[in-house]
Amino acid sequence: MTAQDRAPEVRVFADAAAAVDVLLGEVRAALGRRARPLLGFATGGTFHPFFARFAAELQQGAIDERAFVATHLDEYLGFPPDRRGGMVHELVSQCPPFGSMLVHGTMVPVPHDGDPERLRAHEERLQRLGGLELQLLGIGRNGHLAFNEPGTAFELGFHRTDLAESTRQDARARFSPEEPPQRAATAGIASILAARRLVLCAFGAAKAPAVRRMLRDPVGVACPATALRRHGNSLVLLDRAAAADSGLDAAPAAG
Ligand code: F6R
Repeated sequence: MTAQDRAPEVRVFADAAAAVDVLLGEVRAALGRRARPLLGFATGGTFHPFFARFAAELQQGAIDERAFVATHLDEYLGFPPDRRGGMVHELVSQCPPFGSMLVHGTMVPVPHDGDPERLRAHEERLQRLGGLELQLLGIGRNGHLAFNEPGTAFELGFHRTDLAESTRQDARARFSPEEPPQRAATAGIASILAARRLVLCAFGAAKAPAVRRMLRDPVGVACPATALRRHGNSLVLLDRAAAADSGLDAAPAAG
């Protein structure tokens, strides 16, 4: 089987909001496939419309927060869950039920000190929890997946990393008036590819070049998101603006 044979299914929607039902459907499908699955969430503006709906479903009991264990992709070094700007802080702000899951130990945070031993233990803990049933992903303008910046070996598991300049620029508003962090702990590409189902979302024109590279460039470290084409069970959800450079915009699949 070639890399191309494992190309993700791609669906193009009128806008980001239209993709939320599909994301909620992916969560429900994961809950149906196995008891108490481990679900990996992603941070970033891409997922804010999803988290608004997901939080409401949890708060109304339409989805039971005891039915799954949650984790996420990455954390800025030195950002414990209660520090503004951090990923867990964002997740809890966007989806308050994650706060009680943190207290109950069913939201598993990425170690924010980036200690290699702790990161290894974190990866092992995810495996003991059954491994990721579903991992949601965004994509950076530079083609990063989680904080695997261009040039990062696909073989790495959780590791510490320096953030690319474009990644720091994109995070500037989030940390203003402070400088954005320089370093983070992140799931590696190998950690991400170990998930049984991957769903990547990209919305807006700023993501169109990265989406084209992810889908069309040779698979390799120059564009970490091309790793998705090594997976074999992945779905890409785009809006028309993000799909525009990839020759997909003329034939929206849904939405
Ligand atoms: C965040 C993460 C990053 C983001 C990406 C897109 O946990 O892993 O890879 O998914 O930078 O960020 P937004 O959604 O803000 O455009």
